[in-house]
Formats: sequence, C-alpha cells, structure tokens
Amino acid sequence: MKARLCILLSGRGSNFQAIHQAILSGNLNNAIIGLVISNKADAPGLQYAKEQGLPALSIRRKDFPDNQALDQAVLDHLKTHQIDVVVLAGYNRIISPVLLQAYPQRILNIHPSLLPAYGGPGMVGHKVHEAVLSNQEQHSGCTVHIVTDVVDGGPILAQATVPVLPNDTPESLAERVLLQEHQLYPQTIQAFIQRLVAANTEKSSYV
Ligand code: GRF
Repeated sequence: MKARLCILLSGRGSNFQAIHQAILSGNLNNAIIGLVISNKADAPGLQYAKEQGLPALSIRRKDFPDNQALDQAVLDHLKTHQIDVVVLAGYNRIISPVLLQAYPQRILNIHPSLLPAYGGPGMVGHKVHEAVLSNQEQHSGCTVHIVTDVVDGGPILAQATVPVLPNDTPESLAERVLLQEHQLYPQTIQAFIQRLVAANTEKSSYV
C-alpha cells in the first residue's frame, strides 16, 4: 500500500520534479503522486505535471472570497483523490485551519534555511539568502518540517547543511541550497511514510 501524495505548488516546481523523479527511479518507493494543485494557472510545475500525465489542476485565490474557502476547495479535491499526505513544494499561501484540521501532522513543507533561523512570515525566496549573507553566517541549508499554524514553526523532520562561501550572492547560495533540497525532500518523505506505515496510519482518516 502506497501513500497518496498531493503536491501544492505555485511556481517552478523543481522540488516537485525531484520527488517525482525519485518515485520513478524507485528511490521513493512508498508513495505515489495522487494529485498536483497549483494556485497559479501558469506555474511551470503545473505544466510539468500535465506533461507527465499526473492529475493536476489550478485553484486560484481570486475565485474565492477568502483563504478558508480556497482551502475548502483544495480539501474537496484531496478527498476526491483520496490523498493521505500533503506536500508543499514552493506553495506561496499560508495553510488555513480548514486544511490543518483535516490533515493534522500530515502536511509537509521545505524551507531554504536551517530553521528556526531565517523562517517566519515574509521570509521567502531570496530574502532568506540575503539575510544569511548579511549576517555573515558560515553555514546555511534547508529544513523539512511538519506544517502547523505557526509559519515555518512546526516540528522539524530533517535538515541538510551547506557552507556559505566568501563570494556568495543570494543566487549562488540559493542554488547550493536547492541541490540539497532535491535530495532531502524525497528522502524525508520516504522516512515520514515509513513511520506512518509502522504505526499503521499511512491512510488519512479524512478520506
Ligand atoms: C524552494 O527554495 C523551497 O525551499 C521554498 O520554495 C522554493 C521552491 O522552489 N519553499 P521550487 O518551486 O521547488 O523549484
């Protein structure tokens, strides 16, 4: 029995592609991608999902009165596709209680810093790497964590560290961190699902 993942994304989708490739190569062997949802209709990650023949759709914030209504629409699709675990991969929206309560401890995120450092509201994209460089840190990295109502504050599942080099720019540091993200996320999903299977809870009680 494999856990069914839903990937939520907003843009490039390189982490999603790394997860998909890990499934195809057998490195991530206890999960399948049951659905991909983007909040941007033109996201390259959504395009990739469609090219790969994966179930994929866009759900735009502007079509709903508020975040709760948006997440209720997402939730309806998670149920239809019998999703067990939700994987945020560059999803630029805050997850509302609607989703958090339906998938408690079952929503994962990756963040491009060594949390709890350089996390929280507004700490996204190059802002993270700019802050790391301006503080002259020796190391940075990435973190996979469980999503809770505290932005970037949920329990940490795994981290990978990279050196900060003397001539680094936000772009060069982001690139070094991203390479680690592509390794860490599939590995951490595999280990996370293994724990659910060991506890006989790999199927979401929501579906
Ligand atoms: C990654 O740096 C990830 O850590 C952050 O958003 C970025 C998404 O990149 N949450 P991609 O869309 O997976 O290429």
